[in-house]
Amino acid sequence: MPTPRHSAAAETTVAAPGCCLWFTGLSGAGKSTIANVVVERLAERGIKVELLDGDEVREHLSRGLTFSKEDRDINIRRIGWVAKVLARNGVVAVTAAISPYRALRDEVRATIDNFVEIHVATPLEVCETRDVKGLYAKARAGEIPQFTGVDDPYEAPLHPELRLETDGHTPEESAAEVIAWLEANALV
Ligand code: ADX
Repeated sequence: MPTPRHSAAAETTVAAPGCCLWFTGLSGAGKSTIANVVVERLAERGIKVELLDGDEVREHLSRGLTFSKEDRDINIRRIGWVAKVLARNGVVAVTAAISPYRALRDEVRATIDNFVEIHVATPLEVCETRDVKGLYAKARAGEIPQFTGVDDPYEAPLHPELRLETDGHTPEESAAEVIAWLEANALV
């Protein structure tokens, strides 16, 4: 009997074409939270998946980089390069960095087959009200310069594969939307 494609057994690795799920959105929009749920749900199915989280990347791969445009661009190119290498080896590479500049996201898109741009479209007011890390308050007080959405730009995607409205939706529901899209497009 053939092994069911969506076996719950985590030890069964399912061959997938490889792709990049590129989450983008403001700080506190919910990128990491939703990305983590997506990663868990895919891993449960035995799909090879790897998360490149913005904060984590800045502790390792991009330690020492600032939030100037130049350094953000370097950060995004590094994440894009790792995601490309993972995706071409059949991994679902999930990234969750603000990636505020459209041109940089498009540059990365051009290098990766099956690039899925996911805009976590939580409005600035909502991110700022939540202020999970307390950074918006600091930015407004002038303690953090060049803070995205406050005194640094965020260029929303014009044609993302997916746009998630997080207001009124749980992370689990948003993750389910992502997975449904991947299924509809034969990527998982
Ligand atoms: S990106 O612009 O290069 O894509 P990245 O996702 O790596 O940004 O890092 C964003 C995180 O760094 C935010 O969620 C926040 O916790 C922290 N941070 C610190 N300073 C800034 C800043 N000036 N602008 C945005 N985020 C900042």
